[in-house]
Amino acid sequence: MKLGREHFSSDFAAVLAMAGSAIGLGNIWRFPYMTGQNGGAAFILIYIVCVFFLALPIFFAESVIGRTTQSNTFGAIRKIAPGSRLKWLGLLTVITPLVILSYYSVVGGWSVEYLFVSICSGFDEDVSSFFNEFTSSGVGPLACHTVFLLLTAFIVLEGVKSGIEKFNKVSIPVLFVLMLVIVAYSVTLPGSGPGISYMIRPDFSQITPRTFAYAMGQGFFSLSLGVGTVLTYSSYMGGRSGIVRAGIWTAVFDLTFAIIAGFAIMPAVFAAGIEPGAGPGLIFETLPYIFVKMGSGSAIISRAVAVLFFLTIVVAALTSSISMYEVGVAYLTEEKKMSRKKAVIVIFAFTWVLGAVCSVFSGAFSFCDSLTSNFLMTFGALLFVYLAGWKMDKSLVRKELYPAYSFVRYVAPPAIIAIFVTNFII
Ligand code: PHE
Repeated sequence: MKLGREHFSSDFAAVLAMAGSAIGLGNIWRFPYMTGQNGGAAFILIYIVCVFFLALPIFFAESVIGRTTQSNTFGAIRKIAPGSRLKWLGLLTVITPLVILSYYSVVGGWSVEYLFVSICSGFDEDVSSFFNEFTSSGVGPLACHTVFLLLTAFIVLEGVKSGIEKFNKVSIPVLFVLMLVIVAYSVTLPGSGPGISYMIRPDFSQITPRTFAYAMGQGFFSLSLGVGTVLTYSSYMGGRSGIVRAGIWTAVFDLTFAIIAGFAIMPAVFAAGIEPGAGPGLIFETLPYIFVKMGSGSAIISRAVAVLFFLTIVVAALTSSISMYEVGVAYLTEEKKMSRKKAVIVIFAFTWVLGAVCSVFSGAFSFCDSLTSNFLMTFGALLFVYLAGWKMDKSLVRKELYPAYSFVRYVAPPAIIAIFVTNFII
């Protein structure tokens, strides 16, 4: 183990940090609307199978690389395949999280604005126009992106233990409590019954081959795979930590949070008489409208729930954004020998500029989004699975990953290629 490298204080702290990376906009925003569009409980069942049998092996691959090499993504690849050109591909694994962070911070910024509005004035009926006006207003979203990125930078600047670990230790329990409070509000709204049964009763008639591709894609994004965050956080785990156990716990936290978020959102959607498959606009257009509509009876409670809801989104987005930021910082401090402070400033400059471009030009936003989710993440995952399954010392990896080793070697690569191909066909 390299001296001078910071480590998480326990395996549990590492699991909380990885759960923090996993729990984010993907759980609160993407999972409920995907469930809504793909057959409710039937989608959830398929999703659970995909997470445990297809997505987790990729997680294990990244984790075993990080924990064994005790290095940033670039250094890890150099150690596993010394002298090979693969190391240049390692640079891509540093760039991918920074590109995601750039547009993720823009959406994080929107959540900051929504939190602010729900505290100061509340929303009026026409939330869609508010959303469109705000996101195209230029300066407002830019300022919010800056605030969100600064918050992320401050946490990362504090270091692995006093920044990342501390923030996640407090935030993860708080996130679960907040979400449960919102569930309590949502399931007691008049007319929420059909929403609850939608989450519980599987509708298999909606299941098509596409559903599997969506479930796998969602598992990929939600567990933060192929981006190097799992690798980097695992490199801060002690030499004897159990990788399989940590991975399973991370997936359980992530899945539980997504399901709770579904129970917070779907019953409210049904109570307000809105289509469950409302799509990506769900949290920024539909939900604030629900808070307005439901507010007629008990305005203060609805307003308070709106504040809690957007606070949950901001905190959940922060626990993810710090993990992406740390991938870049680990690279710069270890490979370029920069101080943590300087590395934090360099990453800030890069992601602020790219995020600003994404904030102003929606075309740039969509480009970065599809470049990363359709290509770079899949590519990163394939690289990690190849390194862990085919390049690293076989007996070591088999011992570490037992009983998941053959999944990493034989199941994960075709699964990744299948998602890559399906993304183009559908
Ligand atoms: N898993 C995060 C979410 O669900 C997104 C993320 C992707 C975070 C990749 C880090 C790396 O929102």
